[in-house]
Amino acid sequence: MSRPYVIDELISAKAIAARIEELCREIRATFPADERLVVVGLLRGSFVFIADLVRELSDRDVEVDFIEASSYGNSMESSREVRILKDLRGEIEGRNVLVVEDIVDTGYTLSHVIHLLESRHPKRLKTVALLDKPSRREVDFKADWTGFEIPDEFVVGYGIDYAQCNRNLPCIGKVRFTD
Ligand code: PRP
Ligand code: MN
Ligand code: MG
Repeated sequence: MSRPYVIDELISAKAIAARIEELCREIRATFPADERLVVVGLLRGSFVFIADLVRELSDRDVEVDFIEASSYGNSMESSREVRILKDLRGEIEGRNVLVVEDIVDTGYTLSHVIHLLESRHPKRLKTVALLDKPSRREVDFKADWTGFEIPDEFVVGYGIDYAQCNRNLPCIGKVRFTD
């Protein structure tokens, strides 16, 4: 059983949607319009963000793929040991790739995945993270695009879980324990 908690809204669904529009303008300017873009979501946390992002890019030729990496399990602390639980279905060699992540915390997950994907020699590899907690960083890593920088709060919603709960909240909220 987890400790009792309530969720306070930190970033509204409306603010997220507006930021995604801005991010997609920059993403469009970076990737050639006449080349297919492989959009790779990191399961499970990115599933909501990638769904909104690819629909905002509906004017582009987009292929969607997923990779699953996990470092947290059900705990609130990173294990610092990133495991690839599911690899991409498609090849990325010579292709334009955008990796989509919900949050960069210590940086272990995304830096590990980027390192792995770089070794497959994509033509261009960029990363977008909806949230960034720079105060928690343990490895030198920064996404090419960040939606929002946030303070060191435990956040949930919009794909992000606490012990597998609250991924289906439409906004980003912070967990406040009530015990
Ligand atoms: C969470 C989150 C990021 C990662 C960020 O995933 O979704 O992928 O941790 O933390 P880091 O920068 O410290 O590595 P988690 O391992 O909980 O798996 P999930 O996406 O399936 O919830
Ligand atoms: Mn994740
Ligand atoms: Mg998680």
